[in-house]
Amino acid sequence: MTEQYEVLEKANSREVKQKLREKVLRLKKERNAYIVAHNYQNYEVQEVADILGDSLALSKATIGLGFDVIVFCGVDFMAESAKILNPGKKVILPVREADCPMALMVTPERLREKRKQFPDAAVVCYVNSSAAVKAESDIACTSANAVQIVKSLPHKQIIFVPDKNLGHYVRRFCPEKEIILWQGFCTTHIRVTAEDVKQAKAKYPDSAFVAHPECPPDVIDLADHVSSTSGFSSYIARSPANTFIIGTEVGMIFKLKKDHPDKRFIMPTEQFVCQTMKMTTLGWVAHALETLEYEIEVPEPIRKHAEITLRRMMDVSKDHPNAVIASY
Ligand code: 13P
Ligand code: SF4
Repeated sequence: MTEQYEVLEKANSREVKQKLREKVLRLKKERNAYIVAHNYQNYEVQEVADILGDSLALSKATIGLGFDVIVFCGVDFMAESAKILNPGKKVILPVREADCPMALMVTPERLREKRKQFPDAAVVCYVNSSAAVKAESDIACTSANAVQIVKSLPHKQIIFVPDKNLGHYVRRFCPEKEIILWQGFCTTHIRVTAEDVKQAKAKYPDSAFVAHPECPPDVIDLADHVSSTSGFSSYIARSPANTFIIGTEVGMIFKLKKDHPDKRFIMPTEQFVCQTMKMTTLGWVAHALETLEYEIEVPEPIRKHAEITLRRMMDVSKDHPNAVIASY
């Protein structure tokens, strides 16, 4: 990060944060840029974003925009998806190291080996995977549409990569399929235990527990509702409960509090923090807008195949709610 932003960030005062925020908004205009933020981003980043959402909604939201630059505040696979779908646009990931540990748990080489073992299987890749893995897959899915995608395929055998927990969740709804699990997992969502949730439930007996399907199966067993990050808010809106135990990354709380100021949100563990999601700060967003670093590049042959994989998914799940235009 350039020195001026580092100094501003370190000062960590309200006035300085406000200055930084104004700088980001000014640079955003000058660059004709659009800031996209995942629901897990730091609050200060969510506040300057044009749009907030889950991975599927954000991928869709970037298509056909009139902006020259897309600044993707999230992790690398999300920015890559935006680039795959918008090859003519400059897509910037503010922090180069912001990757998703789960996405790194599958490689195209190992996936090709697996395909050889199960030649009749279709390969479904969770969007939390690299462009190269998407290029080797038949169709993508997100946590919002995984069951729908698997059910849409004529194949009996499905190789599901890389998240074994999401794959396990899909299995519950697709007994007609043979789902071959990859042994990947989210390093954040495995930190919550069934015991954590039971303790929170004992403390708040009238609460409802909402979980992301990346949580381990014994945690999912305790959930009143399971959904992608965008599904949390809609469930809370229609639930009669007043207190909710939140089974996903802590960044989610910011949006939930804004959407439901009269409801109460409890984290079952302090460990629910995705370190790489939290790398992006206001200073990094300012740096990205000023320097246009770090630009996402995807080699064209990979991009083309990965785009087919993503567009097949979008054709199946046309009815997913759109990302939320930020109004902060
Ligand atoms: P969503 O698609 O539900 O936003 O999930 C993305 C993710 O990385 C969850 O850990
Ligand atoms: Fe990856 Fe998990 Fe972080 Fe989501 S929360 S970006 S799956 S490590």
